[in-house]
Order: sequence, then structure tokens, then C-alpha cells
Amino acid sequence: MLTWVRKNLFLSAFLFSFLLLLAGCAHGTESDGALPQEESESQPDEDDIVIGISQVGSESDWRMMNTKAYMDTFTEEKGYYLIFEDGQQKQENQVKALRKFILKGVDYIVLAPIVETGWDAVLKEAQDAGIPVIIVDRDVSVEDESLYICRVGSDLMQEGRNAGEWLADYLESRGRRNEKINIVTLQGTPGSTAQIGRTSGFAEVMKKHANWNMLEYQSGDFTQAKAYEVMEYFLETYDDIDVVICENDNMAFGAIEAIKEAGLKLGKNGGIIMLSFDAVRDALLLVQKGEIMADFECNPIIAPLIEETIQKLERGEAVEKVQYVDETYFDYKMDIGTLLLDREY
Ligand code: AHR
Repeated sequence: MLTWVRKNLFLSAFLFSFLLLLAGCAHGTESDGALPQEESESQPDEDDIVIGISQVGSESDWRMMNTKAYMDTFTEEKGYYLIFEDGQQKQENQVKALRKFILKGVDYIVLAPIVETGWDAVLKEAQDAGIPVIIVDRDVSVEDESLYICRVGSDLMQEGRNAGEWLADYLESRGRRNEKINIVTLQGTPGSTAQIGRTSGFAEVMKKHANWNMLEYQSGDFTQAKAYEVMEYFLETYDDIDVVICENDNMAFGAIEAIKEAGLKLGKNGGIIMLSFDAVRDALLLVQKGEIMADFECNPIIAPLIEETIQKLERGEAVEKVQYVDETYFDYKMDIGTLLLDREY
């Protein structure tokens, strides 16, 4: 619930922003005179739980589904007032969003951090303002872990291990256990937990296979366009790639385009073995076609678990410091068509 103090802080912040806006107009700034969206629309009711969400961006299909799940979960009907800020893949935007939430005196801050480091100062500001912060999806690396209440998301390192174990089993089943296997990796945003976890989880398994040869790691920044360029570069540089690891599905889409354009084959009959992460619908259709051999799920629907956490905090109950969502994997041997029938994404 909004406390009396927070509620007044919220109103003062609104008045302050409004005055600033007027001052801006008076000084002939480029403002078009329109209020920022959330100020121009409704205000929270007295009993609303006000949540400021700082999202990474909209770089992937996974992210879009993740955002939709927040909108579907934290609804007005259920007594939530959501302030959503898109960081557009920039940490500085996310820090600004957090400071805005603090100024507004929200009840909770939900932060999906683009990278792990660089959060200590702003999280301390939130703590000093008495606002609980829930870290979601990726993780933060801070000196003092009491700066946030808990982290809700995926076990991203386990996802990387699962990919490594799957590859080992597959190569064994194809009689390629001792063959030299050349691998390239399209990594996610450098310094993000999704990149660090998947890279290091896979590397852990790779250590057990001296015949696996990592030719190169390059970042595709979790986007299709960048991955297409990086895959083109890989194909120009190396003529014997056995395995491509894509640290998310959108990068797999870009890499597949480049591989096909180069006239190369994908899949089990002598083609490049592609592994991916996320398991969004369009990627699962490629698993069904055998172009992606296996896809390791990253569950984007974490909002219900965050809601459960907030409700516990509202009741004054303790919450687990790290909470993982359930995840699985899908490969070319499975009946993907049937699985997709009751899959939301
Ligand atoms: O942090 C989750 C990752 O971020 C997803 O794998 C990816 O698609 C997204 O951009």
C-alpha cells in the first residue's frame, strides 16, 4: 500500500515535474507540451501497490513476452499501479529510471539489469529511501547484497551446462565422441548474466572434452541483425565449423540466415549443429525442422513469481533470496507440434 508519506511524496514529485515542464516551455525548450505518458494519464488510487519496472529493452522475442507478462500480471483490476520504463539497452537509462522511481516514492522497484556491475550507488539510494528492490531476470553483482530484497529469474549458468551436456550426449550418439569438434559462440550482451551464465556453464562442460575446440567468441548483443553480421564473419574466417552456440533465439535467426546464404547446411545430416537458448515459438518451429538441434528454455513468464514475492512482502513474510523459475529444453527428436499446442510463447 502507498503510505501517507509516499503518497504525498508522489504528489509532490508530480507537481515538481509539472512545474519543471512549464519552466521548460517558458524557456523555449523542445518540449511539445505533452506530459510524459504516465503523468498525463491516471494516478494511483490510495490503496494501489505502486511498482516501478525498469526493463532492459525490446531486443528479442523473449523480452517482448517478458514485458507482456508484466502487463498481464500487474493490472489495475488487481490493485497495481505500474510505471514501466524501457531502458533501450542502456544502463544509464535504467539508472535514470530508478532515480525517477525513487523520486516518485514507489512501493517497489523491479529491476531487470542489463549488466551485472555498476548498481551499488543507485541501489543504496533506493535503500536509503526505504524502497524494496527486486532484481529480476538477470543478476547484479554488488558489494552489499542487502541492497536488494531478492532475485527472481532463470538459472542462466545451468542453462549453459544443459547445452554442453546435450552436445556431449548427441556427439556420443553419432559416434563423434573423440572427433575434433570446432565451435563458435555468438554471445549475448557482454557482462549480462545471460551471457556470463550461459558462456561459463557451457565452458564448464567443455573442460571435460579436450577434443572440443572453441574457435572464437563474439558478441551478437542478443539481436538478430548483429548476429547475422558476426555469423558472416565466422563463416569467412573459419571453413570447418561443426557447432554454433547462439546465446539466444534471435541471434540464432540471424545466424541461420547467414549460414543459408553461404550455401551451407544445418542439422543432423552433416550440417552445422546449432544450439540456442530461450525456446520462443519461432525458434521451436526451427527445432521442428531440425535447423536448430536443441533449444534451452529461458522462461520469460517470471511476473507471477514476482507478484507472489510482492504479496508475501506485503504480508510481512520472509522471501527466498534467490528464486528460479522452472525451465526445460527441446530438441529435434521431440514432438514439437504437440508441445506448441499449449505453449503461450
Ligand atoms: O536475460 C534473458 C535474455 O535476454 C534472453 O535470453 C534474451 O533473449 C534476452 O534478450
